[in-house]
Order: sequence, then C-alpha cells, then structure tokens
Amino acid sequence: MTIQARTTSVDDTRALGKALADVLVPGTVVVLAGGLGAGKTALSQGVAAGLGVEGRVTSPTFTMVATHDTDGRRGISQLLHADLYRVGSGAEADDLAIAEMVEDAAVALVEWGDMAPGVLGPTQVTCTISLGEGEDDRLLVLDLDGSSMDEAATTAALAAWVTP
Ligand SMILES: Nc1ncnc2c1ncn2[C@@H]1O[C@H](COP(=O)(O)OP(=O)(O)O)[C@@H](O)[C@H]1O
Ligand SMILES: [Mg+2]
Repeated sequence: MTIQARTTSVDDTRALGKALADVLVPGTVVVLAGGLGAGKTALSQGVAAGLGVEGRVTSPTFTMVATHDTDGRRGISQLLHADLYRVGSGAEADDLAIAEMVEDAAVALVEWGDMAPGVLGPTQVTCTISLGEGEDDRLLVLDLDGSSMDEAATTAALAAWVTP
C-alpha cells in the first residue's frame, strides 16, 4: 500500500513535511527519491521544523550526513539528514553507517537514498517525489511497507494533501 499526495508550492511541501514529523517513529530511515529540484530538501526542512530542529537545514550534498538535535519530542532526539548523490551506492555509502546511527532515538532522511538500497537497513520508508502538472505541483508517493509507521495514522496526518 502506498499513500499518494500532492503539494502546490515549496511552502506546501514544507507543511506536509511538518505534518509527517508528527507520525514518524524513532529508528525510521526515510529514503527521499526524486530528481534534482523535486523537493527532497524542502520536505526535509518541514520534517526538521516539525521535530523542533533549530537552525538551517540545507542540502547536505557536501557534508554527506548532517546531524541536527531536535527538541526531543516523540522520543526522537536527533534528525540525521543525508545526501547520497555524490556518495553513490558502494562501500562509501555503507561507511556513512546511517542504519547504525539511526538506532532507537533518531530518524534519518536520506536524499537520493534509492541509489544505495542495500546499506540503509531493513526498516525504511520511501518517499518518491515527482513533478506535477503545474510548475509548482509535486506528487509524492509514500511507501511504508516494512516500516514501523502506521498507515492509517500517516494517512490521517497527511489528509490535507492525500489524493485518491
Ligand atoms: N511543490 C513544491 N515542493 C517543493 N519544491 C518546490 C515546489 N514547487 C516549486 N518548488 C521549487 O523546487 C525546488 C526544490 O528544491 P529542493 O527542495 O532543494 O529539491 P531537491 O532537494 O529534491 O533537489 C525549489 O527551488 C523550490 O522552490
Ligand atoms: Mg536536496
């Protein structure tokens, strides 16, 4: 089962991310898939806001993994934000140890995580973002299969954006 959603502006995608933060479960790795400019970083900024992260969240392309402290809500004390675009799929991605770092008290958002499917651990959520009809429309497909996240709760949290 997947959840499909639509946003109509960058702020709308941030708002969706903020709402998604309310149903994130500690230990979850979220793979963010979609081309350059799809909105992976915008979504990450919304999630960060929803977890009470202070300070700027930017594309971590050159740092590979950025670690942000949250305000500790919902048992999530850290947000890991990674970008595998320059890392690729091999041992270097494995070295980032995202699956190990996420443990019990963090959530990881991994831009271009679909490039390294083997190294992110078994319990993943995938969010695929693609361009919609209008210039600022984005279509999001959320796949929660195999993760600890609740489908009904997530659908309810994202009700403002969910499409049939
Ligand atoms: N609905 C939307 N959601 C997200 N970004 C949008 C949307 N509409 C337009 N944009 C623009 O698309 C770009 C998305 O950038 P970014 O989040 O950095 O993408 P990515 O991290 O996927 O490369 C921004 O310039 C943003 O203003
Ligand atoms: Mg980005």
